Amino acid sequence: MKIMVVGGGGREHAIIKKIKENENVEKIYALPGNGGIAADAECVDIGAKDISAIVDFATENGIDYAVVAPDDPLVLGCVDALEEKGIPCFGPRANAAIIEGSKVFSKNLMKKYGIPTAAYEVFDDMQAALAYLESAPIPTVIKADGLALGKGVIIAQTLDEARAAVISMMQDKQFGASGDHIVIEEFLSGPEVSVLAFTDGKVVKPMVSSMDHKRAGDNDTGLNTGGMGTVAPNPYYTESIADECMKTIFKPTIEAMNKEGRTFKGCLYFGLMLTPVGPKVIEYNCRFGDPETQVVLPLLESDLLTVMQATTNGTLADTEVNFSDKNACCVIMASKGYPQAYEKGFEMTIPADIAPDVYVAGAKISDGKLLTNGGRVLGVTSIAKTLYEAIEVSYQKVEKIHFGNAYYRHDIGQRALAANKG
Ligand code: AMP
Ligand code: GLY
Repeated sequence: MKIMVVGGGGREHAIIKKIKENENVEKIYALPGNGGIAADAECVDIGAKDISAIVDFATENGIDYAVVAPDDPLVLGCVDALEEKGIPCFGPRANAAIIEGSKVFSKNLMKKYGIPTAAYEVFDDMQAALAYLESAPIPTVIKADGLALGKGVIIAQTLDEARAAVISMMQDKQFGASGDHIVIEEFLSGPEVSVLAFTDGKVVKPMVSSMDHKRAGDNDTGLNTGGMGTVAPNPYYTESIADECMKTIFKPTIEAMNKEGRTFKGCLYFGLMLTPVGPKVIEYNCRFGDPETQVVLPLLESDLLTVMQATTNGTLADTEVNFSDKNACCVIMASKGYPQAYEKGFEMTIPADIAPDVYVAGAKISDGKLLTNGGRVLGVTSIAKTLYEAIEVSYQKVEKIHFGNAYYRHDIGQRALAANKG
């Protein structure tokens, strides 16, 4: 089989390495991939948002199955366009990807179907939003409607901060048209859990839970990033909480999407907060998380391609999706300065014995050398019987990887470790 994976980060590298385990796979193309992914797939210089070029490439190269991994092409209808040409895909169509593409849509969906989430109001008029803030409880949470590279969420600790956030989104258009509509919602507290789930629109099979570390600095300080490290499973996510989520959140979401005529197929990501009154949805993503994928897929014992195809064919109920009961830890090595300005172009050395556990996010090949080429550069994953060991081994591997301007957090997994002991 010839497989095409759209995207070019650490998440896509993890997907590609796992798909390669299937012996029917002859060839994997990554569009655009990156310099590190080039060791495992043929990288093709087509951007993940260039839908017509992606479709042309797939038809001209006899692609048998396509995996559309990032949010942008999913929301832009990449799956729809490929399916029109008869190419089976992993991922939701645009009318279902809206569950991530519009926060107004997802909040209204949850309200309509009684799925637990933070209380909220939607505004398309700035004066109305500012007037509402006068009596809103503080802290409050302000979200731009559309995709905003994960930056469209402001937790305002004071009324002034809240006002400033509304003005920068709605008047100054900090996130472009994403700020035409905003959501102002209740501030929730509790441990956060990421649950990725396979679904064919009929059944939902959750993967092992995970915990992201979103802030740039140790002890959760500094700016929000795309994610600086992950562990799986998430110790806060007990079996009884998992059962409750299946009943109150996972199944109701799949059913709600069906009732809306927006059947969701692919990987649905539930960003949950375990509040004192039960689990609530913080956000949905219409795709695998990054860097959650780099700890979740290495623990998958079933064949990934088979499971993906089952979501496309509607046969997930009859397909095994098994996970190891071990622990995984992924430490992200970034360029110092990320998520703001950073220098790149430094040569990277990754010892061959570690390379299988390295998922490259931002690198390019120049004159035969692998150079850093992004904010998040790579992730290093380890699997072990205990979380403690998985963390230890990941940091030992990190010590052996070198590139200029390297930066990483030193405390990935420590909160989970403390929760395990508590
Ligand atoms: P998102 O970009 O939607 O993932 O949101 C970024 C982060 O903001 C989440 O991971 C949460 O930590 C935080 N967040 C979002 N919504 C809320 C909320 N209603 N209450 C508290 N924290 C929130
Ligand atoms: N790690 C969070 C995300 O993928 O959105």
